[in-house]
Amino acid sequence: MTFADLEAKAEATLPPSIWSYVAGGAGDEHTQRANVAAFRRWGLVPRMLAGAARRDLSVELYGMRLPTPVFLAPIGVVGLCAQDGHGDLATARAAARTGVPMIASTFSVDPLEGIVPELGPTPGLFQLYTPADRDLAESLIHRAEAAGFRALVVTLDTWVTGWRPRDLSTANFPQLRGYCLANYTTDPVFRSRLPRTPEDDPQAATAHWAKIFGNSLAWDDLPWLRSATRLPLLLKGICHPDDARRAKDAGVDGIYCSNHGGRQANGGLPALDVLPEVVEAADGLPVLFDSGVRSGADVVKALALGATAVGVGRPYAYGLALGGADGIVHVLRTILAEADLIMAVDGYPSVADLTPQTLRRVPAGS
Ligand code: FNR
Repeated sequence: MTFADLEAKAEATLPPSIWSYVAGGAGDEHTQRANVAAFRRWGLVPRMLAGAARRDLSVELYGMRLPTPVFLAPIGVVGLCAQDGHGDLATARAAARTGVPMIASTFSVDPLEGIVPELGPTPGLFQLYTPADRDLAESLIHRAEAAGFRALVVTLDTWVTGWRPRDLSTANFPQLRGYCLANYTTDPVFRSRLPRTPEDDPQAATAHWAKIFGNSLAWDDLPWLRSATRLPLLLKGICHPDDARRAKDAGVDGIYCSNHGGRQANGGLPALDVLPEVVEAADGLPVLFDSGVRSGADVVKALALGATAVGVGRPYAYGLALGGADGIVHVLRTILAEADLIMAVDGYPSVADLTPQTLRRVPAGS
């Protein structure tokens, strides 16, 4: 099915407040729509007789050979979209079946230790929202390492929640809080900060979480973050070349260019439009990308603009809502099949063949 079909079916399936949470964004959602529209301003240039009868879509990332250049972006509380509530496990199973790596959110509904075994040989990456309590942050990082996650993705743009009218109008936030604590209530440091166990006093646990969640990291924190993990470290939310350069100087292993799918700040540029300058500034570091990817054509375009691998976000949450792990597998296979066929028809046998020359700007108004 097309993305429009998928979206319409997911909206018809999910309760309205959950639909608002997943599909909604910041402000009047202009940036969210602009993320999607930005892909339409690029056109792929077909090349003939290019030996594309066989394609190799694999890419290398931190010693991992990924079968395709696509990954599952972190989606907090994705369990709300799953009929049995275990959306993180379903996502991991879909990752296992497709070889598409999963980035597990700090706000998983299933504790992080349960996710990796479901992934099989497919790599998992752990996304960290860095709590103000550094001991707790280190505990989460060390748990992710011990569980077998292969990289740490630190999200920078969500130390406070953006202005999201849909969530505000459905009064979603108190409900969401109750669902995103699994990695905290299972954490020894978090538990040690509470007068009573989270099982005995869930309200106190939620109140404590709300106090420590918001932590606006600064560049001064980077040496600590760097030394806190032996895993490859990526920073998510980088949309300016100077920030990419500074991150590289601070010793990170990768940049993740994303505007959180337009959920955090409205009025910004489409993430795709800043990708080329971020890639240039990253100066050889891997650059992951997401925000607005809806099809195989979008994946090919983001790769041509320099992304090392491309993240699928909302579409897989919709697949989960419609069909559990099978639904996610279907969404991924649809996107990957289209990307593969575009590379076949347009004559680009491998990801390395996709360069800025693969694209031309679509003239305005056409
Ligand atoms: C997100 N995203 C996100 N990012 C992150 O680093 N940690 C998180 O917990 C979440 N949670 C989350 C929930 C929901 C419902 C959505 C839709 C997104 C952002 C996500 O990783 C990615 O950047 C966006 O989904 C990309 O935008 P599109 O392509 O989905 O529109």
